[in-house]
Amino acid sequence: MNYYAAPMEGLTDRVWRQAHQKWFGPAGNADRYYAPFISPPENRVLIKKKMAELAPAANPGAPVIPQLLAKDGELAAWMIGELRGLGYTEVNLNLGCPSGTVTAKGKGSGMLRDPVKLDAFLAAVFANAEGPISVKTRLGVEKPEEFAAILDIYNRYPICELTIHPRVMRQLYRGQGGGPAHVGSAVSAAVRHHGGSRHHCGPGALP
Ligand SMILES: Cc1cc2nc3c(=O)[nH]c(=O)nc-3n(C[C@H](O)[C@H](O)[C@H](O)COP(=O)(O)O)c2cc1C
Repeated sequence: MNYYAAPMEGLTDRVWRQAHQKWFGPAGNADRYYAPFISPPENRVLIKKKMAELAPAANPGAPVIPQLLAKDGELAAWMIGELRGLGYTEVNLNLGCPSGTVTAKGKGSGMLRDPVKLDAFLAAVFANAEGPISVKTRLGVEKPEEFAAILDIYNRYPICELTIHPRVMRQLYRGQGGGPAHVGSAVSAAVRHHGGSRHHCGPGALP
């Protein structure tokens, strides 16, 4: 079984990752540490303070997976290229953040509001970026039944792994998650893509 550390903005930073590794030791380390999201800068000038979190020298021994919060597919693809330049392989796209300040800009789970824009975003990402790309998603905006249509869109792209936060955007972090029916169909999608994708998720060198 693989053990992944979920990202929490403002908490699971490089210091947390190092402390986690120190105190849990080699047997307790996560197989992947998903880093809290960063947004690609629109002017394509990297912000030093943000990038310091992801500097390989600041994350010794930690298999880190960077996460992007973006709504412009070409900009996201550019940033994925920058991250690949630092030696990262898998990059995760955040389509799950429910925070009002994020969703008001049409980012995070706000991306799930408009299937056409979601499809165009993923098309631009996959047309312009190389290597493994994973996605973290919610089941929808208002109700879990939205997930079938969202999944149809994900199935068009070679997403190397889908992580599901089984709530909808409106729930924020409260209440029950969606039932196994919704999650089950997502799991089968992830398995399908593992078979079809050229790239495998995870840290390590690109093939
Ligand atoms: C304060 C906070 C910050 C979070 N930041 C991120 C983030 O940057 N990226 C992300 O994908 N998920 C983020 N999450 C979601 C968590 O990774 C996780 O999916 C969620 O907390 C699981 O739900 P639960 O806490 O109800 O078990 C955050 C959650 C919290 C509470």
